[in-house]
Amino acid sequence: MSSDNIASVLTENRVFPPPAEFAARARLNAEKLAALHAEAQADHTGFWAGLAKKNLGWQTPFTQVLDDSAAPNYRWFTDGKLNASANCLDRHLLARGDKIAIRFEGEKGDTRNYTYKQLHAEVCKLANVLKAQGVNKGDRVVIYMPMAPEAVIAMQACARIGAIHSVVFGGFSASSLKDRIEDTGARLLITADGGHRAGNIVPLKKVADEALAAGCKTIGKVIVHQRTSHGVDMQAGRDLWWHELMDTASERCEPEWVESEHPLFLLYTSGSTGKPKGIQHSTGGYLLGATMTTQWVFDIRDDDVFWCTADVGWITGHSYVAYGPLANGATILMYEGAPTIPDAGRFWKICQDHGVTIFYTAPTAIRALMKLGEEWPNKYDLSKLRLLGSVGEPINPEAWMWYHRVIGKERLPIVDTWWQTETGAIMIAPVPGAITTKPGSCTKPLPGICVEVVDEAGTPIREQDAGGYLVVSKPWPSMLRTVWGDNERYIKTYWGQFQNKYYVAGDSTHRDADGCYWIMGRVDDVLNVSGHRLGTMEVESALVSHPRIAEAAVVGRPHEVKGESVFAFVIAKGPRPTGEEADKLAKELRDHVAKEIGALAKPDDIRFADNLPKTRSGKIMRRLLRSIAKGEEITQDTSTLENPAIVAQLSGKA
Ligand code: WT7
Repeated sequence: MSSDNIASVLTENRVFPPPAEFAARARLNAEKLAALHAEAQADHTGFWAGLAKKNLGWQTPFTQVLDDSAAPNYRWFTDGKLNASANCLDRHLLARGDKIAIRFEGEKGDTRNYTYKQLHAEVCKLANVLKAQGVNKGDRVVIYMPMAPEAVIAMQACARIGAIHSVVFGGFSASSLKDRIEDTGARLLITADGGHRAGNIVPLKKVADEALAAGCKTIGKVIVHQRTSHGVDMQAGRDLWWHELMDTASERCEPEWVESEHPLFLLYTSGSTGKPKGIQHSTGGYLLGATMTTQWVFDIRDDDVFWCTADVGWITGHSYVAYGPLANGATILMYEGAPTIPDAGRFWKICQDHGVTIFYTAPTAIRALMKLGEEWPNKYDLSKLRLLGSVGEPINPEAWMWYHRVIGKERLPIVDTWWQTETGAIMIAPVPGAITTKPGSCTKPLPGICVEVVDEAGTPIREQDAGGYLVVSKPWPSMLRTVWGDNERYIKTYWGQFQNKYYVAGDSTHRDADGCYWIMGRVDDVLNVSGHRLGTMEVESALVSHPRIAEAAVVGRPHEVKGESVFAFVIAKGPRPTGEEADKLAKELRDHVAKEIGALAKPDDIRFADNLPKTRSGKIMRRLLRSIAKGEEITQDTSTLENPAIVAQLSGKA
């Protein structure tokens, strides 16, 4: 986050108490929320145990709540058995079998609805298909799909048989897909011929073929859902059509009852070093987190239409598309395409046409839609909306106020939700009927979530109005369990900094005098581009894998819409390219990064130089590069640099 933003949030003093009308009907008002906090404070594990018993269906009830004998590898509800898909589907069949579970709209305007009964039938059929293909409990299945109901069906079908899914976002490249498949050791891939995005076809099957051609030896079968019907190659003996397999599959499939700690899924996310980590989530604890936060933060009710715009390839799409709302028997909306097709009113037209009541999106989308002008939302009837949410990055007060005024008509609460792939579920957010909101603050931790602000030494800062590292001081049910295949990395990355005492989120924060949190951004070398996490090292390795590049350093630069954009300083082999040659190579490098990682990692800026700013010990001064990328006047002491003269060239001035 830029220093301008920090200054603007820290002087932000507007407050928005819960609207009376909302609070009167809410699941939680201030009093009920206070009671939950009191209960959690008095008995942390007892609090979570009570919720787990009341809100999840267990085939075998648990007797042990928290096993901390191998901390920080915590285990929750260890001797209980359940199934996530049975909790999301079977549980609702009696009371809500004919209620719509998923309303779907494709980019081209095609729509499909699934009732709970129908969704259950599809999930059971695919679960039987997977079993027939030899997928067993504990096997990994990679899902590389467009944002269509089949993606949720695939996730739920894996959960139903105890297979561990790993969804890879459809925007990732063949090389990223291959790395993830190989790290999971998956034996089956579920994909589609393609998806629709911004008027184009995303050629998922073609990319998957490329990934498989490059390795992925564990993959035996590929199930291909037909979405775009644009004609793809099917490899005999390996590739199977979804619809052909489903045609003959039975609609009955007993759920596989798994131990609470059985991994439900792996989801890869970027860190500050090397390759993305496979974040491993459990079944019982994860599902409890997704279920409770959907109630507390989204105030979910039976008559809601809940639209979370995130792709299922991200954690937000796991917890608030595929699991949380369904575990609560809610109706979700899924939209496949881009927000501006055919025009800038698409999101608002969808809200109107489907009667969306809860809308959850990212600040980057809000800023992009804000730029297109309020005449677009003003064309549509948004009167069904009752709650707005934000996630993925700090929301600047200007965007918050626009959301509040133009979409919320100054009447709807906004929940700014802080959490991470690793936390599984929302951690800090306003409970909308109970908490006074402030533009730019995610306000206060949820019940049972123990957050601290600590200094460099790991000492909690007790005074209000404090800044420091954001850490979590007690285990919580939906926390990650480990990094797939690398428990040491789990311990080192998340617990190492303060001797296993705290879970270290990697964010810095400010806590104001009212106890509200203002997230300031990452303290590690992780960028947040349009709400997507990106390691600077990942982009650097992609750049140096190009034959003409010797060295690269990547930093984030504040961006009006994306929040942050990728700025790359690049040293080519041979003389420094200039003029047309530089433009040509820059374009080549952008395409190369898209091919290595995915389009979301493309640098907006590439600057060629003869060298990077290094200290005499050879360390790159990233702080300096960040200032240069922002276009700031360099006031820092550059005398420790090996090559101070390079600063002018890096600044584009020589
Ligand atoms: C990082 C986690 C889980 C949501 C999707 C992103 C940043 C997330 C907020 C927020 C300020 C936020 C943090 C965090 N972040 N939500 N409401 N306010 N920052 O998940 O890819 O795992 O990224 O996103 O920096 O560490 P993720």
